[in-house]
Amino acid sequence: MDKSLSPDRRADLLIGQMTLEEKISLLHGGGFRAMFGTPGSPAPPTRSLGGAGFIPGIPHLGIPDLQMADAACGVTRGAGYSRYSTVLPSDISEASSWDLNVAQDYGALIGRELRDQGFNMSLGGGINLTREPRNGRTFEYKGEDPILAGTLVGQEMKALQEQGVIGDIKHYAMNDQESGRNFVDVKIDKRAMRESDLLAFEIGVKESGVGAVMCSYNLVNGDYACENSYLLEDALKKDFGFQGFVLSDWGATHSTAKAAMAGLDMEMPGDTYFADALEKAVKSGEVPSSRLDDMVHRILRTEFAVGLFDLPPDRKVVDVFKGFDVAQRVAEQGTVLLKNAQGQLPLEASSLRSIAVIGSHSDVGVLSGGGSAQVDPPGGNAVPPPPPPPGAPRTAFFQRVIWDPSSPLKAIRAKAAHAKVEYNAGEDPAAAAALAKASDIAIVFVNQPTSEGRDVPSLLLPDKQDELVSAVAAANPHTIVVLETGDPVTMPWIDKVSAVLEAWYPGIRGAEAIANILFGDVNPCAKLPVTFPRSEADLPHPKLTQQPPPASDADMVSPFPGSRFRMNTRRFEVDYNEGLKVGYKWYDAEGKQPLFPFGYGLSYTSYAYSKLKVELGAGRVLTVTFNVKNTGARAGAEIAQVYASLPPSAGEPPKRLVAWEKIQLAPGEVKPVTVTLDSRYLSIFNAAKDSWELAPGEYKIWIGGSSRNLPQYKAITLSD
Ligand code: BGC
Repeated sequence: MDKSLSPDRRADLLIGQMTLEEKISLLHGGGFRAMFGTPGSPAPPTRSLGGAGFIPGIPHLGIPDLQMADAACGVTRGAGYSRYSTVLPSDISEASSWDLNVAQDYGALIGRELRDQGFNMSLGGGINLTREPRNGRTFEYKGEDPILAGTLVGQEMKALQEQGVIGDIKHYAMNDQESGRNFVDVKIDKRAMRESDLLAFEIGVKESGVGAVMCSYNLVNGDYACENSYLLEDALKKDFGFQGFVLSDWGATHSTAKAAMAGLDMEMPGDTYFADALEKAVKSGEVPSSRLDDMVHRILRTEFAVGLFDLPPDRKVVDVFKGFDVAQRVAEQGTVLLKNAQGQLPLEASSLRSIAVIGSHSDVGVLSGGGSAQVDPPGGNAVPPPPPPPGAPRTAFFQRVIWDPSSPLKAIRAKAAHAKVEYNAGEDPAAAAALAKASDIAIVFVNQPTSEGRDVPSLLLPDKQDELVSAVAAANPHTIVVLETGDPVTMPWIDKVSAVLEAWYPGIRGAEAIANILFGDVNPCAKLPVTFPRSEADLPHPKLTQQPPPASDADMVSPFPGSRFRMNTRRFEVDYNEGLKVGYKWYDAEGKQPLFPFGYGLSYTSYAYSKLKVELGAGRVLTVTFNVKNTGARAGAEIAQVYASLPPSAGEPPKRLVAWEKIQLAPGEVKPVTVTLDSRYLSIFNAAKDSWELAPGEYKIWIGGSSRNLPQYKAITLSD
């Protein structure tokens, strides 16, 4: 307990006092039975707070219990002490802010609420890149660019850990689709992997000193991610310098010695491979005791470094109301204005006599994302499902749809107190169109429920909502569409509507944030962290790769020892042969025109870029300076983006994002911007030499407001 010693030294002193059994006890969960008890029998004596994971500490050595809760967009299932947590907008909304302060607020809020509920470890920080936009977990991730995703998660985790809670970045790696996630073998070459998905992890780990990384369900190039020595040992621990511990995703451990020697430090949530089996492997020498000590060291040094010994959580009821302000600010900074024909928005309340509000339960709530990231909203599900008929099976966990009680209808009524604001549920397009026709404007809310555990079948809106939008737009030329989606969607009606807002899953204050943007109290400034394609035919994989059906009964087995549950265990491959061309890099390289490009987003004002200069300084640091001017009549914030085109010899897609800066500007104001380019971000990964290098030749540095709107560039040559 001597705080003057380093976390590593304190961990070693403690390890010196531990028996083999005690060491092993820190490396695995006790399974669901240990956490929740066996149904029907008395609950086992456990100190678990009911979060997703629990590892008992060792009281006589002062080692605290490890209490983990899922916390991707707020603390989930915090059954222990306080039922409710702040429901933040989904992570893709945070990413749409491109704002380091927003990422810090997001992480700090999650850390504080975990701590208040007695948890000392978060399971969040998802940054799987959007290679497959139909992925059911896109809402939990931070888009398609490694530098954007890695930087934001780094800020989020740093702020979270400052609350004395261990952070986690997941799912490492290439878990880019949910379909068949336990059996899919991802094929990808090393360079493409290092420059895309792994680069996001590298940046996140290095910039935050995060304590934990969760390895994923899938296989990568033939080995399960949680027993993949290239991923865990060579890349994460050696190259990225990760000092924390690797825990498996829930049920993603598949072996003892192979996994331990490949770099897995903790099996979760069960005890099949890293309890008795690991003890045996250590006793037989199959796993050397030095490796066992390294596993324990990584966990304990993290607990010391983050403050679990010195500042244990102080449980209290969560002040969710305090969290609401943060949730609203994130939504306001993360809602993207995609279309605004003839200045349809912002709305002027005084000039509107009637407003039709249509669809998507917008009378009572806003949609949220499903699965382990699902936060139990204060106030409960705004659209509770009807009680199932007696004997019917319960709705499967991954099929649940929860609406946060934040009513767009109420928020719009509050803004337009003198207008008649009427609601139509949108189930009958003709009735909705009739209301739209009788109103000055129509605001149609549409949704796309997504969840962990399932991908969406297509990027079209479900439940005939495209028909609804078309019918309303045909009835009223002033139709505004508000999207509540987890993924990009295609928009067959785009030319018929006058405005489109992408609100994602906007969280517990989503309605207020949407209304503030619609009525101009907030000037939108968010930019897309993912490309919206015109059609799925333009995707690198026009069809989602599905697991093939079982070839024989032999394929139907329990994937988890001890469970009676049987599933199709047939392996299959997804070949990410688009390689480096992830997201916008694909559209650029293939000359395809997206519906809305990466980095795109409108504002109620406009910006101009000028005076670009690029200078090469000591240590090959490039300094980029330019001016941004607010050329409109409203104050706003521009996310100024810097892209680089590498020399042709580098063999790269046409350009990559290398830096950005969010700048607040009053009407008419001009501000100079200076960014320095990290040479890592201009580098390419040489797989033969296993190292990063700068290709000699001419680099073009571009500036502008989106990946497809880059008004200026300067060329600069880097010699050998
Ligand atoms: C998810 C993880 C989550 C874990 C614990 C898994 O199914 O993939 O993201 O942290 O469950 O709930």
